[in-house]
Amino acid sequence: MNFTRSLMELLDHHKQMDEMFLGHQEALMGLEWDRAEILLEQFRRTIEVHIHFEEAHLLPLYKDRAGERPGAAVTLFVGEHKKIKQFLARFTRQVRSVQDAENPRRALLSLFDQHTMFKHLMEHHDLRERNVLYPCLDEVTTLPERESLFQALSRLTDSPEVQATPPIATSNQGNR
Ligand SMILES: [Fe+2]
Ligand SMILES: [Fe+2]
Repeated sequence: MNFTRSLMELLDHHKQMDEMFLGHQEALMGLEWDRAEILLEQFRRTIEVHIHFEEAHLLPLYKDRAGERPGAAVTLFVGEHKKIKQFLARFTRQVRSVQDAENPRRALLSLFDQHTMFKHLMEHHDLRERNVLYPCLDEVTTLPERESLFQALSRLTDSPEVQATPPIATSNQGNR
């Protein structure tokens, strides 16, 4: 069924989102609070669009046509998405409390510990999607279907709400 253009291309978004989160961590390390907040919000919006796309378009197709592979039930993907969103809601609150802490650097260390847990979750989630979800979808879809999935994603990322995301400010320390 599959000729060219793989949905695996969409996994590049995972790498881009990992980079966005690292940018947020770098801003925190520099105690650049405003920048850290903007980057976290931008990351949160981007990941929410990605999750929405997977839940609205990819997971229903996967369930109907691939029938859920062992260790990769739809509820598992959705459960991980929920945990990702919970982490991000907590991080948003914590950036504020870290800057208000008596010792912000110390408070930051404990936030970074939680970031490590979050990054492990993201890594597991990426692997499950990379090894099962996306390859299965390539197997069970036609090229025109995949093209229309790419178009659906473009429509989502071009939506006014996503466009309203503040641009990434250029670090005043330059890019190393
Ligand atoms: Fe994903
Ligand atoms: Fe996902």
